[in-house]
Amino acid sequence: MSTIVTGAGRGIGAAVARLLAARGTPVALLDVDGGAAARTAASLGPGAVGLGVDVTDAAALEQACDEAAAALGPVDALANVAGVLRTGSVAGLTDDDWAACLATNATGVMHACRAVARRWTAAPPPDGGAIVTVASNAAGVPRAGMAAYAASKAAALAVTRCTGLELAALGVRANVVCPGSTDTAMLAGMPAAPSALVAGTPESFKLGIPLGRVADPDDVAGTVAFLLSDAARHVTLQTLYVDGGASLGP
Ligand SMILES: NC(=O)c1ccc[n+]([C@@H]2O[C@H](COP(=O)([O-])OP(=O)(O)OC[C@H]3O[C@@H](n4cnc5c(N)ncnc54)[C@H](O)[C@@H]3O)[C@@H](O)[C@H]2O)c1
Repeated sequence: MSTIVTGAGRGIGAAVARLLAARGTPVALLDVDGGAAARTAASLGPGAVGLGVDVTDAAALEQACDEAAAALGPVDALANVAGVLRTGSVAGLTDDDWAACLATNATGVMHACRAVARRWTAAPPPDGGAIVTVASNAAGVPRAGMAAYAASKAAALAVTRCTGLELAALGVRANVVCPGSTDTAMLAGMPAAPSALVAGTPESFKLGIPLGRVADPDDVAGTVAFLLSDAARHVTLQTLYVDGGASLGP
């Protein structure tokens, strides 16, 4: 059996793929940056393949599911990690910012959930299947300047949980991980310095991080891997915040 990880070329997705591969799981790394997917996959050994796939392209995702199964064996797990961040106040938000967030973060997750749901409905994974979507704590907590991103992540959360409900009778579990600030290229594109992220910015009603540090990608990957694993075999439809307490655990 094998696992698909989207957005696996770098950042949190690469950390998820690395951890799964280290535990002996065959992994298909999908990323719109096909070169990054291939390089990261190559660093993981023969049990990993890298595929250049844009999750906004439904047909490409369907094809990637089949390629992953052909290369690594039947797919029984999916980690939706691909994402983009566009910031800006609602008054200043462009149509393009809105569309970009929704296309990758929400529609991309739907495409991936739909692709595995079709296959698992036709042929249920013998030991159950698992989906984990990496959303964001912005999905549940209002953040100034993040309306498009937060809305897209709330949609991703809902799609994932509805998929989990529909497929539960097949033994499929679906859960959501909501990271807070995590040290990746995406965070580097944010205007706030790490010290401000930890201390908080009262002027924008943003709490700091009670645990006093920005997350490493591995912090998030460990939780994703747990929820994909048999150790979480009775956990489904849950949303787990991995944000050092930043959103006070809604
Ligand atoms: N870094 C943070 O602080 C943070 C916080 C909360 C949630 N997240 C979420 O975690 C996930 C991973 O983020 P990251 O910090 O590793 O970001 P990142 O920018 O380092 O990595 C994102 C990866 O997704 C890929 N990607 C983007 N659009 C894609 C598409 N259309 N199809 C396929 N691949 C695509 C990128 O090429 C990149 O490799 C994202 O969903 C992000 O929204 C990140």
